[in-house]
Amino acid sequence: MKTVLVDIIAGARPNFMKIAPIIHAIEARKAQGGPVRFRLVHTGQHYDEKMSGDFFKQLGIPAPDVNLEVGSGTAAEQTAGIMIGYEKLLTERKPDLCLVVGDVTSTMACAIAAQKLWVKVAHVEAGIRSGDWSMPEEINRLVTDSITNMFFTTSEVANETLRRSGVPESAIHFVGNTMIDTLLSNMDRLRPPPFWAEHGLEAGKYFVMTLHRPANVDSGNTFQRMLDAISAGTRGEKVVFPVHPRTAKTIRDGAKVPANILLVDPQPYLEFNYMVKHAKAVITDSGGITEETTVMGVPCMTLRSSTERPETVTLGTNELLGIDPAALGPALNRLFAGEWKHGSVPPLWDGHTSERIVEILERVLAA
Ligand code: UD1
Repeated sequence: MKTVLVDIIAGARPNFMKIAPIIHAIEARKAQGGPVRFRLVHTGQHYDEKMSGDFFKQLGIPAPDVNLEVGSGTAAEQTAGIMIGYEKLLTERKPDLCLVVGDVTSTMACAIAAQKLWVKVAHVEAGIRSGDWSMPEEINRLVTDSITNMFFTTSEVANETLRRSGVPESAIHFVGNTMIDTLLSNMDRLRPPPFWAEHGLEAGKYFVMTLHRPANVDSGNTFQRMLDAISAGTRGEKVVFPVHPRTAKTIRDGAKVPANILLVDPQPYLEFNYMVKHAKAVITDSGGITEETTVMGVPCMTLRSSTERPETVTLGTNELLGIDPAALGPALNRLFAGEWKHGSVPPLWDGHTSERIVEILERVLAA
């Protein structure tokens, strides 16, 4: 078999747990004589130690071969910066494939730059849709999938969406969820954060919340109503709130944080998922966290009106509450009454997705 070079693109926090197991699977196959080699490209969209560096260290991701260092900016500035940087890299050395994951700005920008230089694109987590075009991630998904050659999917719903949009069956590979590979392989390493004892946190007796979507946090008024509703509905139990940089700005601008909500820095992977695993419930506007709570069987309330991950609701422990904070009270009452659903784990979210991906890459690229 000839060796093949795959560019693996990572830019923002939710990418890192998706690429880690793919890299490990490639390395494991390489040790057995497998043909795939990779070049790890970090776009620099997330650059803080807490948003990026910690994840590389904890998840054993090698240092990037290249960092495009795009940094902060508007969506267009980031997209343009990444495209210019990645195009330059591609003209220096073209890989056989550009592999992008998820739905962040870096995903779309690199897919465009690659395809324009006739480099084929593989998309991990292809085919998921919220239908909500006000979210930048939805635009990134639509654009990326419209120029993808190999579609690695997490669910039958995603397969069906791709089929309906005309993608041939031979290009759709239903492999499962790489984020869950990372979760399952790190389950025994999860550990409490340093403030666990100091704040008197006890398993099953606190909540975890995360909020960072522009619709929820950019307006101080909406954000304040959410904080107040969460505080009231959780009946004085502690709510640990790792604050994303975007949300930190709204808090600095004058939000009043109720006493039972503990503000902490963005947490590293092992500490964050330890807290989720032992929480009474999670309140969030993230997509990825709803997959992790589903696998860990932790009740999850999502402050959004739509989800691109419907299986976390139909099979898992997640429920969409919408964006009106008034929905929190009744939902939390059901939780305290012990009436939250238990849920099950979606098909192929079994910890072996990355091995399946690498097997397919070998079959398709190195044949
Ligand atoms: C991005 C992703 C989103 C993902 C989220 C998780 C897109 C469109 N959105 O949103 O899907 O859920 O990451 O974190 O790609 N900042 C820092 N330090 C950093 C990174 C960012 O301070 O390391 C600041 C930026 O300067 C900016 C804000 O955080 O002010 C938002 O960062 P940005 O990359 O624009 O998008 P996210 O909201 O993080």
